[in-house]
Amino acid sequence: MINIDEIGKAFSDRFGHAPELIAQAPGRVNLIGEHTDYNGGFVLPVAIEHRIYMAVSTAGDNVLRFYSMNFQEEYRTIIKDQPLRKAVSVDWANYCIAVIEELRQTGIKIPGLEVVIQGNIPIGRGLSSSAALEICTGVSLRELLDLNIPDKELALLCQRAEHSEYVGVECGVMDQFASLLAQKERALFLDCYTLEYKTVPFPVEQAEIIIFDSGVKRELVETEYNQRREQCAEGLRLVRLALKKDIPTLRHCSPEEFESIQSLIPEPVRSRVRHVITENQRVLDSVRALEQGDMNAFGQSLNESHASLQKDYEVSCEELDTIVETAQESKYVFGARLTGAGFGGSAIAIAQPESVNEVINKVSKVYEGRYNRVLRYELTKPAPPASVLHYSIR
Ligand code: GLA
Repeated sequence: MINIDEIGKAFSDRFGHAPELIAQAPGRVNLIGEHTDYNGGFVLPVAIEHRIYMAVSTAGDNVLRFYSMNFQEEYRTIIKDQPLRKAVSVDWANYCIAVIEELRQTGIKIPGLEVVIQGNIPIGRGLSSSAALEICTGVSLRELLDLNIPDKELALLCQRAEHSEYVGVECGVMDQFASLLAQKERALFLDCYTLEYKTVPFPVEQAEIIIFDSGVKRELVETEYNQRREQCAEGLRLVRLALKKDIPTLRHCSPEEFESIQSLIPEPVRSRVRHVITENQRVLDSVRALEQGDMNAFGQSLNESHASLQKDYEVSCEELDTIVETAQESKYVFGARLTGAGFGGSAIAIAQPESVNEVINKVSKVYEGRYNRVLRYELTKPAPPASVLHYSIR
């Protein structure tokens, strides 16, 4: 557990006064709807209990000072007229700088800042620690500088920050929206085309989310994530040609339409498109199942999602498959799948709360037997979104 007082104290020790505010932002797991966000589709993430905290004050100069308690590392840079410089070999600082630079691009004047950061979101496991850091920076500065930026706009601004040269990942909108807009004990159903959303109940009495770490660490930029995006763009071009319709995104092609034209699309693009189109339908089915309290139907969709990510989208790996397949065999598990971009990272299993230990033991035994390393896991329930926790004028 992160202790807010500890962050406040670290801030005072470093800067000689209390912070003006402390904000927090969660990581996320996506229950279902993978690789659909950048195709105008549907997603259903939850915020997790693991989060990033940030103590912040304005300073009377033009220096940005960041300190990470996790990395025990400081980064300083001076605000000049030109864009901020990218931090070399202090990767975490670039997420904050990217958001600050996006705010500057909209004409907002950023003063000198003092910032202390601490978090407990495991990094590089597909739990969106980067989006949490961006959103935490965004909500802090919105409050501190009294900016009138609605939530949706702030989430989009943080997404642009992730696309920028400071980070360089062409992510969709899911992670930033989840961190800012998800709700406690609910999942966020987001239409990534219209950006309309609603929350749906997640039965915390009946189901616990186990997050398993595959142990395979891949940085998004270095993986095939951007390549999948390109394949989908090519898929959209071919679907438009085949349907003779200028549909705006793959989401606008129905499963029936896809059936009728799929033979015209060469592999692997055909399989990529099939995943996206069937996954959107599975999200809609999952939302209905949650609303009706049908956890078995919900779990079934999750299992099918994994199979589709494994075979059609080809973003799973052996370790993820081992975890997911072993979890799925348990009678205490409603469903299991990889979560996030894939290529390593995490898998989730939705399990009956009283049998969580049994499930973890079973999956650990198989995983550890096969890979000869300890299986790490986290437990979570759908948790509250980003917020400013404490605000005091100096
Ligand atoms: C990453 C991206 C998201 C989304 C997922 C895959 O987490 O940041 O925008 O595309 O991958 O669903």
